[in-house]
Amino acid sequence: MPDPMNPAASGHHVRLGSNSGQPMTRRDGAAKVTGTATYAADNRPEGLVHAVFAGASIARGRVTFLDVAAARAHPGVIEIMTPDNRPPLHVNPDEKFHAFAWRTEALQDDTVRYAGQPIAVVIADTLEAATEGARLLAPRYASDRARIGFDQGTRYDPPAVGIGAEADFAKGDLAAGLSAAAQVTETRITTPLQYHNAMEPHAIVAEWTEDRLTLDTPNQAIVMSRNAFAQYFDIPAENVTLRSPYLGGGFGSKAIIVGPQLLAILAARMVQRPVKLVLRRDQMFGPVQHRGATQQVVRLGMEATGRLTALDHHATASTSSFDDFIEPAANASHNLYASPSIRTRHTGVRIDTGTPGSMRAPGEASGSAALECAMDEAAEALGLDPLEFRLRNYAETDPASGKRFSAKALRDCYAQAAARFGWADRPLAPGQMRDEDGLLVGWGMGTCLFPAPMFPARARAVLRADGTAVVETAGADMGQGAWTALAQIAADGVGLPIDKVVFHSGSSDQPDGGVAGGSAHTASAGGALHAAGGDAIRQLAEIAAADPDSSLFGTGNTGVTARDGRLYRSDDDSRSDSYSDIMVRAGLTELTGTGSGARDPANEERRAMFSHGAVFAEVKIDPELFQIRVTRMIGAFAAGRIINPHLATSQLTGGMIWGLSFALHEEGVHDLRTGRAMNADLAGYHVPVNADAPSVEAILVDETDPYVNALGIKGVGEIGITGTVGAIANAVWHATGKRVSSFPIHIDALMG
Ligand code: MOS
Repeated sequence: MPDPMNPAASGHHVRLGSNSGQPMTRRDGAAKVTGTATYAADNRPEGLVHAVFAGASIARGRVTFLDVAAARAHPGVIEIMTPDNRPPLHVNPDEKFHAFAWRTEALQDDTVRYAGQPIAVVIADTLEAATEGARLLAPRYASDRARIGFDQGTRYDPPAVGIGAEADFAKGDLAAGLSAAAQVTETRITTPLQYHNAMEPHAIVAEWTEDRLTLDTPNQAIVMSRNAFAQYFDIPAENVTLRSPYLGGGFGSKAIIVGPQLLAILAARMVQRPVKLVLRRDQMFGPVQHRGATQQVVRLGMEATGRLTALDHHATASTSSFDDFIEPAANASHNLYASPSIRTRHTGVRIDTGTPGSMRAPGEASGSAALECAMDEAAEALGLDPLEFRLRNYAETDPASGKRFSAKALRDCYAQAAARFGWADRPLAPGQMRDEDGLLVGWGMGTCLFPAPMFPARARAVLRADGTAVVETAGADMGQGAWTALAQIAADGVGLPIDKVVFHSGSSDQPDGGVAGGSAHTASAGGALHAAGGDAIRQLAEIAAADPDSSLFGTGNTGVTARDGRLYRSDDDSRSDSYSDIMVRAGLTELTGTGSGARDPANEERRAMFSHGAVFAEVKIDPELFQIRVTRMIGAFAAGRIINPHLATSQLTGGMIWGLSFALHEEGVHDLRTGRAMNADLAGYHVPVNADAPSVEAILVDETDPYVNALGIKGVGEIGITGTVGAIANAVWHATGKRVSSFPIHIDALMG
């Protein structure tokens, strides 16, 4: 039995003789903590100038005047870019030319669609001059009333939600399910606008050399974005180099191209100098996406035995006035609980904000919050323990697709987390527990689920005659440790210890590493690296098998295994040859393999692919002030093969802390009259600090999933958020007897 307290050190998941499975620390950690890691804004090419955009102070209307003369007269100001003079773009920024393209603002006209929208760009010798120039523009507007809040916006039926997901879904007969129910509960939950707020603000350094473009900008989908930038400027993709070696967080907001990036590139073209544009913190509350607000209604019908008969989840979500990204919240109810009837629906509401986008567990985070609160309320109605209620209803097969998934993994998660938490001692009724200081104590739980997608990705592995290898894929390390986990996979792919492998990543010059999103990066780019290594080894084995001087001569179909820089005959370990010797005899200095990450379509046909988990939370609440503290969280997660238990644990605990942040802290507040973000800084937009999360544990549950991909890898990045939000709200109920109806949970919601 592994030690759940210390999975990394217990031997659990560690496969000796391989790099994968080892709890290595981040390869880029020393560079980051010593300040030598070069983030986008740290680049200062020769001749660099600075761009600052002026943001609209109204949320809807037109710009009628900009004092360009005053700005231009300011010392150090080089140029002012407005809709009147900005260089042309080949793609209309109001066009959606591929699935990951949002309509964006690149000074195409004088319309204002949300507060903070860029309306002009000032380019100057210094950041200070550009900032002051932007202030001197003193815009005037023809202003319309801002529409902020669900009651102000225009409702519509979205054709799709998220990125191309179905807006409506029905399975079975909901009306029959509800009328057959012994009990029906209805749970209403609202969630606020949330802003990604990565530690590193969006930044770009753009430089043109004739029709070649060099970009230093953090990006979660390097080659996809490189290709899109090339389209905007009508140049061949190979003319664009996008470098993104370090990202200070992305959370989904750095996966697609945003307006300020285009503006910097346009500015660089205009002044024929390299341009740096870095968003201020307040500028990140508008043009660079957010999570839309939701209003959700979940109705559950249950038999007296506790079996669900009906699950109805309707989510209303906010989007901008000019583009569609509907937080796919209700779709979180598709795959988890085995109700014979399930209906999910979405309604969009257009308000005057920037366009939302994918933000950590888009849909699952807000949707599972509502679903898990609803499950708790239903358990209460039945007089059942919330865990017991879930054990009676979790799905053995995916209710939406009918495909099988690993229900055992979820059972193991429930069991291990509950045991570690001490759930068996929980009184059923609320308000029963107090700690030694008289604080109200409550325990709650939630189920975690996240899909295990894969994105197309490619990689290259070059074996060198000196016994080393260079392995490359354009992957993105946002702090999650991708470069470390991917290097571990790459080293195993070429059968070398990790210190003999040079791992290159983070630039569009490398093979497409796919999207670092959807918790799919390790599986996708890792699959490609593994395949590329395998391709190189296969070629090497063929050379050895054909070489009479090799002890592997004639091995042919017998096959070889690659280990520590040598090939061994699979059926006879005493016959081996080193990579170097094979290559030197063949007169090769290097040998290149390529590969792509892929899933077996036959498996995809038959298997539903998800990571599973369960989170248990303890809260303590002051009985007079109602201040809420999450004193303990324990989650157990099954996510297939764990490449690096140290980093995976960090991802999972980070996800749980994000869930805590969702439950108690984060909320983007806009002024209802002006539409402006009122808390556009990290003093007003709250996120948890260490003191808010004193005890967070993630247990790695063993799971072998041979179907998901060749390496058996699923994601760990986002699942920790799901389940956790509900677990905390349910713990608040257990402490106080008060059901939560909106997030973040405010003190005043518990008063009276
Ligand atoms: Mo993401 S929303 O997959 O960083």
